[in-house]
Parts: sequence; C-alpha cells; structure tokens
Amino acid sequence: MCDCNSTEKSIYLPELAPITKVAMMNETEMYMHLDHDIGHKPGQFVEVSIAGIGEAPISISSSPTEAGFDMVIRKAGRVTDIMHQMQAGDKLGIRGPFGSGYPIDEMKGKDLVFVCGGIGLVPQRSMINYIMDNRADFGKIAILQGTKEFAQRIYHDELERWAGVDGVQVLETIDVAHDSWNGNVGVVTTLIDKIDGIDLTKAVNLICGPPIMYKFVLMVLQEKEVSHENIFVNLERRMKCGVGKCGHCQMNGQYVCQSGPVYRYSDLANIPEAI
Ligand SMILES: Cc1cc2nc3c(=O)[nH]c(=O)nc-3n(C[C@H](O)[C@H](O)[C@H](O)COP(=O)(O)OP(=O)(O)OC[C@H]3O[C@@H](n4cnc5c(N)ncnc54)[C@H](O)[C@@H]3O)c2cc1C
Ligand code: FES
Repeated sequence: MCDCNSTEKSIYLPELAPITKVAMMNETEMYMHLDHDIGHKPGQFVEVSIAGIGEAPISISSSPTEAGFDMVIRKAGRVTDIMHQMQAGDKLGIRGPFGSGYPIDEMKGKDLVFVCGGIGLVPQRSMINYIMDNRADFGKIAILQGTKEFAQRIYHDELERWAGVDGVQVLETIDVAHDSWNGNVGVVTTLIDKIDGIDLTKAVNLICGPPIMYKFVLMVLQEKEVSHENIFVNLERRMKCGVGKCGHCQMNGQYVCQSGPVYRYSDLANIPEAI
C-alpha cells in the first residue's frame, strides 16, 4: 500500500536539478556542475534522465566535501548527445547516488596510488579531492594519468594543482607524442616505476580506465607482488535501474550497480568475466 505521507526519497523518482555550469573540456567531454546536494561517497554514480528521451548512469566527479556535484559527459548516444546541447539554467532528472563507493575509513593513514586512463580520472577525482580536503588523514599520494592523445587530456589544471600539494606526486603520460608535450610518452603502465617513495605492496592501488588498461596494470602490479586485497578496480557495466531490480548489470549473481562499480580485486577472484 502507498505510504502517501512518507517524505522518504523514492529510488525510482528523479529529482529535477539545475545545471549551473557547463564547459567543454575537449572535443568530446563536457563538464557540468549541478546545484544539487546528493550526499554521495567517492566512487558512486547517479542516474541522469531527460524526460521523453531516457536515462544514463554517470559517475560523480566531485568530492562530497564540495557543494552540489560535478559530472563529465562523453557524447555517446541519445541521452548524452542531448546533454551536450544543454546550458546553465537547464534541468536534469537525477536519481541516486547509487553504488557502494570506496571504503574511505579503511584507506585512512595509508599511501594511495591512483592509476587512471582517459576519463577514468572522472570518478577518481571524487576520491582525490576528498583526500585533498582531508589531507592529514592520508599518507603519500601518487596520481598516474594516461591519455591517448594530447588534445584529449582532461582536468589538466587540477593535475597541476594536485602536484603542488605536499606529499602528492602527479605523473602524466600521453600515448602519442605531440609538439606541445614534453612529458612522458607511452602507456600509463610506464609511469609505475617512476613512483617515488611509495611501497606499492603496502599502498592502496585504485585503478580506473578503459577495459584494456586493467589487464596491463594488473599484470605490472602482480609482478610487483601487490596483494589483490590492496587493489580496487572500477567496473563499468550496462545499467538501467541502478538499484538491483532490472538485472541488466548482473555479473555472476551480483548486481554491479549495488555491489560495485568499485570492487576490491580479491573479491573478483572467482569471476573471470569481471575483467
Ligand atoms: C557506473 C557507470 C558510470 C558511468 N560514468 C560515466 C561518466 O562519468 N561519463 C560518461 O560520459 N559516461 C559514463 N558512463 C557511460 C554512460 O552511462 C553511457 O555512455 C550512456 O549510458 C550512454 O547513453 P546514451 O543514451 O547517451 O547512449 P545510447 O543511445 O544508449 O547508446 C549509445 C552507445 O553506447 C553504448 N552504451 C550504452 N551504455 C553503455 C555502457 N554502460 N558501457 C558501454 N557502452 C554503452 C550503446 O550500446 C550504444 O552503442 C558510465 C556508465 C556506468 C555503468
Ligand atoms: S542496473 Fe538494474 S539491476 Fe543493476
């Protein structure tokens, strides 16, 4: 029976939230800020909807320590194409936050290594900026960012800002050399040996990027004898409801929208299709 007096938020009902800022980050990625506090944890996502068009799961890119929240949208189809035409003042339907998020308390006091590929930096930025706002709670930080081409780099101002913070090392690479780039050229795994002053076997390693990247990063971490318990991966699966009802994201009997998208690698040991 309907509890018509209930003030509890429905997990199925989007709330309309105003976009307050948009900016193109490169040719394909659009940054958006929404003035809507959702009470998220780093690593979670929202379902974003446009009435009459559809809904898409999108990572939350900002820290819960900031007001409202940020997203980065890659143009991929019906919903995201229309989002790219939106401007400040337009409204989006938002459900969530959903997903498990990172176990922050467990990471306190430890050194952390972020390995990001392309727009894998988008969800990781939520955790990174949480750390920046609670710097004393965490050990040394290494942020490794790999991008295919110079023109596709995102959040470069922020990478520069993080590099200036005490105890934070930022290493960036692009796959293809470019006249305006005098940094590292090669895939993101080429940066792992350049990490300074962090024992990878004792650090928490957080990986997020395109599917192909995981295989190679995990191979290097394996060679360095990093325990699977100390590795977190961020899985992307087809999602619809976001709340464990439709079965679209099912993986070996579990729903990625609920138990993920962030997983401890050791929890995926018996799920060969996971990565
Ligand atoms: C947990 C999670 C977090 C995500 N975070 C972001 C983010 O921060 N920014 C962002 O731009 N995108 C993100 N995505 C991907 C995004 O949800 C899809 O690109 C989006 O749903 C496409 O919707 P659409 O209506 O624009 O395209 P559609 O018209 O539905 O599809 C366009 C094309 O994209 C394919 N597609 C749809 N969904 C996915 C998917 N999940 N994975 C791979 N291919 C897909 C379709 O098969 C089709 O080929 C995330 C996905 C998940 C599951
Ligand atoms: S998206 Fe529906 S069960 Fe996960």
